[in-house]
Amino acid sequence: MRYPEEIVEEVRLRNDIVDVIGSSVRLTRKGSSYFGLCPFHNEKSPSFSVSPSKQIFYCFGCGVGGNVISFVMKYENYTFSEAVKFLADRAGIKLPEVEYTKEQKERENKRLRILEANREAATYFYYNLRGRDGQAGLNYLKGRELSEETMKKFGLGFSLMQPDDLVKHLRSKGFSDEEIRESGLATFDEKRGLTDKFWNRVMYPIQDINHRVIAFGGRVMSDAKPKYLNSPETMVFDKSRNLYGLNFARTSRKDHFILCEGYMDVIAMHQAGFTEAVASLGTAFTPGQATILKRYSHDVYLAYDSDGAGRKAALRAIEILRSSGMSGKVINMTPYKDPDEFIKALGTEEFQKRIDEAENSFFFELRMEEENFDLSDPDGRTRFLKVAAEKLVAFEDEIERESYITAVAKKYSVSYESLKNQVVSLAARNGGEYKPIEKPKPTDFSKADREDAGLVSQRLLLTWLCEQPSLYEQIKDHIKLTDFTDPVYQKVAEWLFKDIEEGTVNPGAYVSRFEDEEEQAVCAAVFNTKLSEIEGEETSEKAFGDIVYKVKKNSIDVLGRKPDQSVEEMMAVLNAKKELEELKKVTYRVSQ
Ligand code: UTP
Ligand code: MN
Repeated sequence: MRYPEEIVEEVRLRNDIVDVIGSSVRLTRKGSSYFGLCPFHNEKSPSFSVSPSKQIFYCFGCGVGGNVISFVMKYENYTFSEAVKFLADRAGIKLPEVEYTKEQKERENKRLRILEANREAATYFYYNLRGRDGQAGLNYLKGRELSEETMKKFGLGFSLMQPDDLVKHLRSKGFSDEEIRESGLATFDEKRGLTDKFWNRVMYPIQDINHRVIAFGGRVMSDAKPKYLNSPETMVFDKSRNLYGLNFARTSRKDHFILCEGYMDVIAMHQAGFTEAVASLGTAFTPGQATILKRYSHDVYLAYDSDGAGRKAALRAIEILRSSGMSGKVINMTPYKDPDEFIKALGTEEFQKRIDEAENSFFFELRMEEENFDLSDPDGRTRFLKVAAEKLVAFEDEIERESYITAVAKKYSVSYESLKNQVVSLAARNGGEYKPIEKPKPTDFSKADREDAGLVSQRLLLTWLCEQPSLYEQIKDHIKLTDFTDPVYQKVAEWLFKDIEEGTVNPGAYVSRFEDEEEQAVCAAVFNTKLSEIEGEETSEKAFGDIVYKVKKNSIDVLGRKPDQSVEEMMAVLNAKKELEELKKVTYRVSQ
């Protein structure tokens, strides 16, 4: 669903980007822009810029950028429509009603009711914990050394030892039996009707990234089984696509996540200041969860239990991370079982040390393998090294594989040559030859491509035109839209030229016209090219002339490199080359 473009524009124009970003990021004015610490990556000196005149933001450190709408999308993790809605509310703009089908409307209403029921239950559990009947729960949590502040932050609560007090409470708040049942907070059977799902347990609300309660985990206070009971999957709870603690961890400003096994681990870690900790929800870590984490960071440290089950789970998680293109490291918690115990026993600083010393996941895997062999026996050693070689074959990237062969050879004191030979012969036996695997060429413009000199000139030209629209008159006969070789740049040029002709330059509006987040960032980057780098070096006239020349020349080069040229295309290149010679003679009038 998308709102009409005029509405989106109105919402955007009525929300000044400096005000909106300034309410969550500390901004300081520097020249014509504001700067602050980037909320999307970890940094010590500000490279996050906000331009009030262009109404766009851009981070010179990590490359994120966009307009006020894309900022809210990224910062709050909203969809486009949610961000527009948020900003419309902020500015007091009434959005048009969207046409839903009857089924869609009913579904959406049901979803909202289930969220409300969960919130109501969380509040109810929360007050139970602090009430007369919650003493046991409170004692239990205090016994686990949780501070009042931590309990509050995670909204911990308590379910009473009564069969249907929550059901009654929810009914009194106007929820229908159907809603209560579908929220997963109660179960239904013919004889007893609706019964509470959770009895006499300490309750851990599970929140989505926007801090909405979507489910619960409930822990017994004794050694009874099952230790935890979790809400079933519902319309609002998909356990493979949420992570416990992510609502806090995603803004932790750390450059990595720590993935733990349990609720209690996450809570203990946050209490100790490791606010980057998350856990999967009553099940093993899933590829869906990896995808979600990857939005924020590629680096995940595993803090799984140090028992057999924990190691197995860690090995599985490593595989998932690897196939999602992320990098995993393993935190060693011995002699303690889990992060909760470790921190209680040795404290924060020791845990930080363990993070710093975390083991590369490949070596962790090998170390786990070691246990299956007797390395002191030549035979066992040989068989172990064969297994290692097999694992090494799996690296697709040649450089990566080479550096791992070197490292493994060193660690297990075998010669590089013999290990490499082993890898080569295994690869051959597996049907594949051992040859450098060519990396697939990026089909689209990757970051590196965008950095080529041609694109830098195109960006400089667009930025310059945006700041001095009058220059357009002087170049419009020489530069065509096709001279912009990146599809995003070409679109931006088209809109900018049209705007200049109409006398209104409005780059902040362009960002939202791209649906793809990556394209939005590229669009914002276009206008954040630092003119200051070229200014001052030479006269502006010469600098501007050079840029126009380079843009044209690059476009000719790109055209010239095209395979299977038709005669027309070859002629076009020749003509363009003549034009290029002409371009050298043009002088521009640029104001300082
Ligand atoms: P743990 O047994 O390690 O629990 O299970 P924990 O969170 O560390 O809790 P404490 O410290 O013993 O109180 C790890 C996770 O596995 C799921 C829960 O998500 C738990 O946090 N689990 C475990 C269940 O869903 N049900 C169970 O019966 C046990
Ligand atoms: Mn545990």
